[in-house]
Amino acid sequence: MKTTAKAPTNIAFIKYWGKKNEVLRIPENDSLAMCLDKEFTVTTVEFKKDLKKDQVIINNQKAKDKEKERVVQHLNRIRKIAKIKLFAKVASQNSFPTAAGLASSASGFAALTLAASQAAGLELSEKDLSRLARLASGSACRSIPSGFVYWQAGYSDKTSYAYSLYPPSYWDLRDLTIIVKSEKKKVSSTKGHQLAGKNPFLKARLKLVKSNLKIIKKVFKNKDFSLLGQVIESEALSLHSVMLTSQPALIYWQPTTLAVIHKAIELREEGIVESYFTIDAGPNVHLICQKKGAAKLKREIQKVLGVKKIITNHPARGAHLINKHLF
Ligand code: DP6
Repeated sequence: MKTTAKAPTNIAFIKYWGKKNEVLRIPENDSLAMCLDKEFTVTTVEFKKDLKKDQVIINNQKAKDKEKERVVQHLNRIRKIAKIKLFAKVASQNSFPTAAGLASSASGFAALTLAASQAAGLELSEKDLSRLARLASGSACRSIPSGFVYWQAGYSDKTSYAYSLYPPSYWDLRDLTIIVKSEKKKVSSTKGHQLAGKNPFLKARLKLVKSNLKIIKKVFKNKDFSLLGQVIESEALSLHSVMLTSQPALIYWQPTTLAVIHKAIELREEGIVESYFTIDAGPNVHLICQKKGAAKLKREIQKVLGVKKIITNHPARGAHLINKHLF
């Protein structure tokens, strides 16, 4: 059966950095994220008798060795659970630049998990889909549920998965993704997680994460936007402190990254628009704001030299099946 799934990326307010178990991708800490509606992956999968090996097409091109290998490994996990031996044709399309720190592995592996498991005849629960997606890429487990999602780190394959804390409609937040560079990043997040494990600053970060997790849960209950902003900026900066002090150092920021941060702070301090920044493993900045002020923020940030593109996201639905196949 041919099956197609669509999955959003997600932006973490409390980040995942460092793993307790690399093979099972059990993270050091819980994380919390918002699914994004304009940055997504659509993936079609069909297991076919006439194939001699898996065929993987990403953004209309045959997947290269490493990229293909990661997809094939995930198909192997799914074939094992479904007890089938057939090879698959996989086509995948992103709505945004791949591997530029824009969470393409999150949406990509969430869409692949849902499409391939259904195509293999499996009917997995949301929890099991999330666990399975996690094995391919940690952040992908947060792209299975909808809205504002919580990944409980857990301590084993069974206990580490994400669930929805609140539906997309709960809080009308906006994420403006400010693209300053869209080329592939040189150091993958998988490598970055390994480096973090050897970094003495990770311990201090994990302490801070613990207290930020407590605060953010209350923030969500009360929809306290200013406090949310303080938490996500503290989180992003502590994540990048670990990246900067890794050996070798991971310096993902570009001059325009800093220019955008400063502009957002200036707009906030002058009372023009209240927004807060967060940054993943790449140079692009996410500005979180409320509905009111989002259009103004976009206009102002567009003027910053070096900004290439701005995508305005709403909280999104998690991974789901769609009828429009890619082949
Ligand atoms: C900085 O999920 O890409 O975006 O599990 O090795 O595939 P792997 O790593 P990945 O790491 C994402 C790290 C981050 C923070 C976050 O999204 O929580």
